Amino acid sequence: MEKLEVIGVKKLKGNIKISGSKNSSLPILAATLLSDKKVHIINLPKVKDIETMILLLRSLGSKVKFNKKKKLINIDNSKNIKTFASYSLVKTMRAGILVLGPLLARFWKAKVSLPGGCAIGARPVDIHLKALSKLGVKYKIKNGYIHANAPKGLIGNIIKFSKISVGATENLIIASSLAKGKTILKNCAIEPEIKDLINCLRKMGCNIKWSGKRTITIIGVKKLLDVKYKVMFDRIEAGTYMIASALTGGNMKITNIVPKIINTEINILKKIGVKVIAKENTIRVFGTKKIKSIKLKTSPYPGFPTDLQAQLMVLLCKADGRSEISEEIFENRFMHAPELNRMGAKIRISGNRAIIEGNINFKAAELMATDLRASVSLILAALTTKGKSVLNRIYHLDRGYEYIERKLRKVGARIKRTS
Ligand code: EPZ
Repeated sequence: MEKLEVIGVKKLKGNIKISGSKNSSLPILAATLLSDKKVHIINLPKVKDIETMILLLRSLGSKVKFNKKKKLINIDNSKNIKTFASYSLVKTMRAGILVLGPLLARFWKAKVSLPGGCAIGARPVDIHLKALSKLGVKYKIKNGYIHANAPKGLIGNIIKFSKISVGATENLIIASSLAKGKTILKNCAIEPEIKDLINCLRKMGCNIKWSGKRTITIIGVKKLLDVKYKVMFDRIEAGTYMIASALTGGNMKITNIVPKIINTEINILKKIGVKVIAKENTIRVFGTKKIKSIKLKTSPYPGFPTDLQAQLMVLLCKADGRSEISEEIFENRFMHAPELNRMGAKIRISGNRAIIEGNINFKAAELMATDLRASVSLILAALTTKGKSVLNRIYHLDRGYEYIERKLRKVGARIKRTS
């Protein structure tokens, strides 16, 4: 089992280039199932979840040429596409549920495993299924699989999501793209990754437009086009390294990004005293001694992202005073807190609130990763300690951070992978 060893107390200095977005690549890869034309996608991050999605596409019959080194992919879904997505692949990567929409839209039937829960929550898909049934999909759940079909194909409709859901919004945008007639989706998630998906679908010939606050209008089309598309940058990876620079008193330039997309994160860091200079497509972050405490909650975009909550919590352990974070999106996303407390943090959990005492000096320790973002928060804490920390179960980390030890070593961190 691989581990990461980190010896801390180094100011991180230098440039870090941000990779393509995992959470944009996954729905875009799923959406390629709509098309019988050529699809060429670049800037995919080299992370485990992308490899799992490619395995899933191949299991459905996709012909995939994946040039890992150049991070580009050519996909041919023109023929022999199956409509069965197995538990073995969907269970390890919940985004596998995103193949349901395109399979139903193109083939009018699909048998897709329920994704099942994970460390951060139950991860139900009821909102996806309720919305798909408004497009004429009939489904039943049997032996852990969704057996779905649309006898007359998908028919456009007006759908208002009961709750803002990134995945449900993505599934329905993709499904409606080939539905007969017009679909209006209301109360949509508006994350940048969804805008990236829409931009890619438009280049594939789909007719999609933003038609009001959290409202998207899709007119189904019959023909699609060959497409070449570059995936956007990973804003959560960018936020993670910004926090790493602030935390270690460093001076890091984060490149290959669009600062305005992470305005909320930049403003929160500035509010707690971090010096941030944003330019065209770079951000420079200076560590400061004085971090101010804050009270904030996670919320759907453009609010503070739940995927950065664990990382910010580490920084707030260094604040001058008590902070509070309310996790409004997932029901169990404080798994990093007990591990941080083992490193000397004083974090108390009360319901969906974490109360974080400041002025903490973390101590090196042997640590256990539980989920993707919790894992990286432990690395961040370990970077500030004297002595050597060891992080176990780093497969969680490899799901979403490309070359993390290489990128951190480049800016001076003492970190290495051992098995
Ligand atoms: C996406 O997950 C991201 N994953 C998550 O990133 C991210 O944390 C989340 O959006 C919120 O921003 C990908 O994009 C692959 P949701 P998703 O549907 O789509 C509940 C990471 O670390 N819900 O917006 O699964 C759900 O349980 C990952 O990169 C239902 O109740 O998130 C949650 O409480 C973690 N029923 C809330 O809604 C449903 O049918 C938001 O979930 C669907 C969701």
